Order: sequence, then C-alpha cells, then structure tokens
Amino acid sequence: MTSRAARLLTLVLGVAACSGPQTSPADSGPDGSASNAADLPFPVRLSAEQSKGRRVFAGVCASCHGLDGRGDTLATGEIAKDLPDLSEKQYGRLDSAQLAARFAAAHRTGAPARLTAGQIREVLSYLPVLAYPPDAPGSALDGRRLYGRYCISCHGVHGEGNGPAAALLSTRPTNFAYDTLVAARDFGALVRVTRDGPAHAHVSSMPAWGLFFNARMLQDVAAYLPTFERDREAAPSSSGSPPG
Ligand code: HEC
Ligand code: HEC
Repeated sequence: MTSRAARLLTLVLGVAACSGPQTSPADSGPDGSASNAADLPFPVRLSAEQSKGRRVFAGVCASCHGLDGRGDTLATGEIAKDLPDLSEKQYGRLDSAQLAARFAAAHRTGAPARLTAGQIREVLSYLPVLAYPPDAPGSALDGRRLYGRYCISCHGVHGEGNGPAAALLSTRPTNFAYDTLVAARDFGALVRVTRDGPAHAHVSSMPAWGLFFNARMLQDVAAYLPTFERDREAAPSSSGSPPG
C-alpha cells in the first residue's frame, strides 16, 4: 500500500470511528450530541410545529421507536409487542386523523409520557418526516446518520466533494449539489454506484460500499443524497386537518 493510500485509510476510518455509536443522536441542538454528523443538513425543511414535534419525538418516543422510527433500539428486546417501523412509506400517506387514531389505539393506556394535546399534535405532524422520501425506497433520516459516518470524510458536510480526505484522492469526490444522478432522483443508479464503486474506479477512489452495507443501508444513504441540492423540499405533512 502506498503511504498516500495508508494515510487515506487512516483518515477515513478515523473519521468513522469518532462519530460515535449508531444509536447516539446525530443531531445538533437540544436533543443532540457532538458528532461529525451534527452539522449535516436535515433532509427536509421542517415547519415550526414539526421542529417542536421532532424534539418531542427525540425526548419521548425515540427511547422505544428509535430516533429514526425504525424501532431498532436497545429497548426493543425488552418490549413484548413488536414495534412498528415508522419509516415505512404507509405512514407518510396517512392523514393526520388516521395517524392520531393509530397512535391512540397503540398507546391506549395513555400517552407514553404526560404530553399535552399540543405536543401530541406536534409529534404527529413530525411522523411523516420519518417516512421521507415518500416516493422512493429508504429512509433519508437513517441515510443522514450513515452519511455522517462513512461518506462525509470525502464528500464533505455540504456534499460538495471537499471533505478532509478529498485532498488525498486523485479523483475529486462527486459534488452532489450538481450531480446528474441526484438531480434525476435516480435512486436505483445511486444505490448501484454506491454499492459497486464508480465504474472507472482506481486505487485511491471510492470504496465499493456493498462490501460493508446491506441493501437497506444502501437505499437509506441514497435517499439522503438529494439533501445537498440547493433547494430542499419542505417537509411532508400529513393531509387533512389536525385532530382536536
Ligand atoms: C414504551 C415504548 C414506547 C414509547 C415511549 C412510544 N411508543 Fe409508540 N408504540 C410502541 C409499541 C410497542 C407499539 C406497537 C403497539 C401495538 O402493536 O399494539 C407502538 C405503536 C405506535 C404507533 C402505531 C403504529 C401503527 O401502525 O399502528 C404510533 C403511530 C406510535 N407508536 C407513535 C408513537 C409516538 C409519536 C410516541 C411518542 C409520543 C411513541 N409512539 C412512544 C411503543 C412505544
Ligand atoms: C475515500 C473517499 C470516498 C468516500 C469515503 C466515499 N466516496 Fe463516494 N466518491 C468518491 C470519489 C473520488 C468519487 C468520484 C469517483 C469517480 O468519478 O471516479 C465518488 C463518487 C460517488 C458517487 C457517484 C455519483 C455519480 O453520479 O457518479 C456516489 C453515488 C457516491 N460517491 C456515494 C458515496 C456514498 C453514499 C458514500 C458513503 C457511504 C461515499 N460515496 C463515500 C470518494 C469517496
């Protein structure tokens, strides 16, 4: 291995190693912890109500459902009932009354914590964000976490291809702000390239992530990449009028 390749490997792995465990909140702000994913943009622009709902979700719901709603938390093993995967696309399609009914039925013994009606409304308005993007496989939120651990070192905080390891590469990492696959929302191709590595890959280029990632992780990280386009979408909201 050349010394340049060795330095690169150290840098990439070092960055991944200090980003902390998968379960730590990869967010800045009140519910956040320090990690290199903290500065990463959120996949969608949240309304004020959804931002409040996000804090409620992180503080109250995430202990069981996981920060990204996937239900793969440490608590899962201790809960007799199966946790739903709230990032499933069906949750993005429910209107707010349907979501409220599902929530009430599942948490019949009352809200998991003492939440006001306003806080419940806020947290329910945030739930469709867990299923974003509505029309493509994968969870952009989980992808954000993966990007912060494995991609940021080369592709950078703003996806512009100028991460700390980029200088050691002979090929400049793709700038996702102007990438044609991202612009076309060609998630199938993004998954393939991420999995197999770029077609004309050479030694100091991008690893084939298929060696390390399962299919779901590949879909998740692909779902996150459009975040770096200039105009981010507003967050999806459940249709219909809020309950109460
Ligand atoms: C103590 C663990 C726990 C906490 C905390 C918790 N949940 Fe749940 N949640 C569950 C379990 C378990 C189920 C599945 C219940 C069932 O199948 O009957 C569930 C189901 C749901 C469902 C219904 C999904 C469906 O398709 O029927 C929604 C929506 C939901 N939770 C939202 C929330 C929100 C929002 C919060 C925070 C305010 C929250 N949960 C907090 C354990 C929890
Ligand atoms: C070691 C540095 C490095 C890391 C880490 C890295 N990449 Fe790359 N990536 C590159 C380089 C360099 C290119 C451009 C390759 C070329 O054009 O030959 C690239 C290109 C790509 C492309 C191609 C885009 C297109 O339109 O052709 C995708 C998609 C991609 N990377 C996704 C990712 C994802 C997702 C991760 C994290 C899981 C990641 N990369 C991590 C260096 C890296």
